[in-house]
Amino acid sequence: MILLILLILKFFVIYENVLIFNTETFQELVSPSQSKEITKRSFLIDYENNVFLKDGKPFQYISGSLHYFRVPRIYWRDRLRKFRAAGLNVVCTYVEWSTHEPSPGNFLFTEEQDLEYFIQLAVEEDLLVILRPGPYICAERDFGGLPPWLITLYPDINLRTNDINYQKEVKKWFDILLSKMQKYLYGNGGPIIMVQVENEYGSYNACNMDHKLWLRDLINSYVQEKAVLFTTDGNAKHYLNCGVIPDVYPTIDFGTTANVTLSFDVMRLFAPRGPLVNSEFYPGWLSHWEEKMQTVNTSSILAKMREMLDLRVNINFYMFFGGTNFGFMNGANLAEDKYEPQLTSYDYDAPLDEAGDPTSKYYEIRNLISKYMTLPNIPVPQILPKGNYGTVTLKPILSLFNHSFISDCKMVVSYKPKTHEELNLKYGYALYETKVPENISDPAVLYVHNVRDRVIVYVNRNPAGIMSRSRFINSLSLLAPPGSTLSLLIENQGRINYGNYLKDKKGLLESPLMNDVPLYLWTIVTFPFENVSWIDSIYPSNQNISPPAFYLGEFILPTKNDPLDTYIDMTGWGKGIMFVNNFNLGRYWPGTGSQVTLFVPSSCLHRAPEKNKIIMFETEYTHPEFKITFKDKPRINKVPPGYNNDFQ
Ligand SMILES: *[C@@H]1O[C@H](CO)[C@@H](O)[C@H](O)[C@H]1NC(C)=O
Ligand SMILES: *[C@@H]1O[C@H](CO)[C@@H](O)[C@H](O)[C@H]1NC(C)=O
Ligand SMILES: *[C@@H]1O[C@H](CO)[C@@H](O)[C@H](O)[C@H]1NC(C)=O
Ligand SMILES: *[C@@H]1O[C@H](CO)[C@@H](O)[C@H](O)[C@H]1NC(C)=O
Ligand SMILES: *[C@@H]1O[C@H](CO)[C@@H](O)[C@H](O)[C@H]1NC(C)=O
Repeated sequence: MILLILLILKFFVIYENVLIFNTETFQELVSPSQSKEITKRSFLIDYENNVFLKDGKPFQYISGSLHYFRVPRIYWRDRLRKFRAAGLNVVCTYVEWSTHEPSPGNFLFTEEQDLEYFIQLAVEEDLLVILRPGPYICAERDFGGLPPWLITLYPDINLRTNDINYQKEVKKWFDILLSKMQKYLYGNGGPIIMVQVENEYGSYNACNMDHKLWLRDLINSYVQEKAVLFTTDGNAKHYLNCGVIPDVYPTIDFGTTANVTLSFDVMRLFAPRGPLVNSEFYPGWLSHWEEKMQTVNTSSILAKMREMLDLRVNINFYMFFGGTNFGFMNGANLAEDKYEPQLTSYDYDAPLDEAGDPTSKYYEIRNLISKYMTLPNIPVPQILPKGNYGTVTLKPILSLFNHSFISDCKMVVSYKPKTHEELNLKYGYALYETKVPENISDPAVLYVHNVRDRVIVYVNRNPAGIMSRSRFINSLSLLAPPGSTLSLLIENQGRINYGNYLKDKKGLLESPLMNDVPLYLWTIVTFPFENVSWIDSIYPSNQNISPPAFYLGEFILPTKNDPLDTYIDMTGWGKGIMFVNNFNLGRYWPGTGSQVTLFVPSSCLHRAPEKNKIIMFETEYTHPEFKITFKDKPRINKVPPGYNNDFQ
C-alpha cells in the first residue's frame, strides 16, 4: 500500500515536470473545467482499492461506443453531445486501418478520416476517450478493419501473428497513427485515458505470445504510461487464456444474458486486483441479412446495469450509437460454416438509433445513470424531423455488360481465374467471362468450389441462376450450348470480421467446373465503384435495359429549407448499391431484409433548387415502375421470407 502511494506520488512529481513544458498544448485540448487540474494530471490503476485513479482520485466511467467512420463528420458533435447528455463521461472508438490507409502508404487523416478533430470535439463536449486502435478491430467491418491489400501484397500472410510482413505493415501504420495520438493521451494533457492492445485476441486461434508482446511494446513506446493499456475478451476462461498480455490490464465483455458475478469471477482469475471493467456491454445486437433484426429489451439492460453499477463496474456500452456501414464496409460472420454478412444499417438497436435519434431505451438508461452520477446541464435530446420527400422515378442508363463506357473498371485476361485480391479489387464486384467448351453435354452442371459470396450466372448474358454462399448453393444446372458466353458476376458481400477465418478471399479461388471439366481462359472485369461520376457522360436510354445495370434518378427537394436526414424505401427492387450525389449509401436487398430502407444523411443532399442525382446499380430485378420513395421513417425490421428462428 505505502509502496503504491509512493509510486503514484513519484509519478506526479515527474509528471508535473513534464507538464511545465506542455502547458500550451493543453490549453487547446482541455476544457476550462479540466484546466485547473493540469498540475496533477494522471490516469492510473489503484490495485489496492480496485479503482481507476484520475488525477489521484477514484474514478468510474460509463462510456459509450461510437465509430466516427460510421457517421458523417457533420454529426460527430451532435452524437457526442447526446452521449454526454445521457450522463456518459467517456466515448470509446475503434480506429479502422483500412479507412485510414486505403492503399499501401496512402494515409488519410482529413475530412471524414479526421480522427484528431473527432478527439478535439470529444474534449469540447466534456468527454474522455477510450481508443481501440486494433489494428484488428472486428467491429462488424469488412476484414475486421484490416486493409484487403494485405492479402494482395502478401497472399500467404499470417494475420495477427509475428509474421514478418504483417508486423512490418502494422509498424508502418502504428508509427503514423500513434505518433499523432501521443499528444491526446491523458498524461500528455489530452482526453485518452485507455488504449486497447489487440482486440478479443482470445477469440482467434493464433494465440501467438511473441506477437502480443511485440504489439504491446510497440504501443507502449508511444503511450509510455500516459494512459492505461488494456485487453478485452469474452467472459470465459478459455478466451482470456490467449487474450491476456503480461503487464496489460485484462478486461472482459458481456451482455444482458450473462451472470455478472460469474463473469467477473473469470476476470478475477487474471486480474486478482484492480477495477472491474465490462469493455463491451451490449444494449443491442448486430444484425445480418437473411435474418430477423436482433434486439435487446430495455428491462434486461437496466437490470444488468444496476447490478454492475452497484459493484462499481466501469462500463462501456457497445454500441451506444451504431450508425451505418456506408459503401461496401460491412463485415460478415461465419457461424458453424454459415456465412452471415452484416446489414448496411448498424442501428444495432442501440440507445441512439441509426439517425442519432434518442429512443425510449436512451431515456431509461439516462434516468438510471442519473441515480449514480450527476447529469450535466445539457438539454435532453429530442427526435429530429426527417425528410418525407416523396417518390423519384429512375431511368435505365447502361448495362454492366456495356462496360467500355465505365471508366472506373479494369479488364484482364487470364488462363486461370483470379481472386478479387489478386486483381487488387478491395471491395465491389467482378465479372468473369469465358466460352463454354465444345464437348459439354446438354444440360450441364456448373460447379464453383468456394462461392465468395454471391454469383449471378448468365448464359449469352441472359440470367441463368444464382449461387449463394450464405445458402450453401454452389452448383447449377444450365442449358449452355457449346461456344456460348458464360458470365459470372461475383459480389463480395463483406469479408469475415470475427474468428479464425479472417483471410476471406473473394471471387473465384479456382477454376469452376462444368460437368467436372475445369473452365479456363477468362476475361475478368473489376468494378470497385469508387467514383461513379463517369455516368454524367451517358444519357438515359429508352431501351429496356435489364440488370445487371445502372439506373439514374434526378430530383429537386420540395422545399428550400436545409435538407433533412431521410430514408430511401427500396421496396420492389432486387439487390444492389445506391449512390446519392456520388456518395455510396451502401447495399440494399429489400426483398430479403431485414433492412428495407437506406439511411440518407442530409450531408449528401443538395438544397433546392440544385438537382440531386441518384445512381443505382441493380443486379437482380427492377421495381415495376422504376420507383424509389424518400420516407421519414426507417424500416429495418422486416422478417425475411422463409425465416426460421431455429436456423439462426
Ligand atoms: C449468478 O450465479 C451465481 C452463482 O452460480 C448465483 O448464485 C446467482 O444467483 C446468479 N445470478 C443471477 C442474477 O442469476
Ligand atoms: C427481456 O429479456 C430478458 C432476458 O433475455 C427476458 O428474461 C425477459 O423476459 C425480457 N422481457 C421482456 C419484457 O421482453
Ligand atoms: C452501350 O451503351 C451505349 C451508350 O449508352 C449505347 O449507345 C449502346 O446502345 C449500348 N449497347 C448495348 C449493346 O447495350
Ligand atoms: C472436353 O474437352 C477438353 C479440352 O478439349 C478436355 O480436356 C476434356 O477432357 C473434355 N471433356 C470431356 C467430358 O470429354
Ligand atoms: C470522380 O471522377 C471525376 C471525373 O473523373 C473527378 O472529377 C472527381 O474529382 C472524382 N471524384 C472523387 C471523389 O474522386
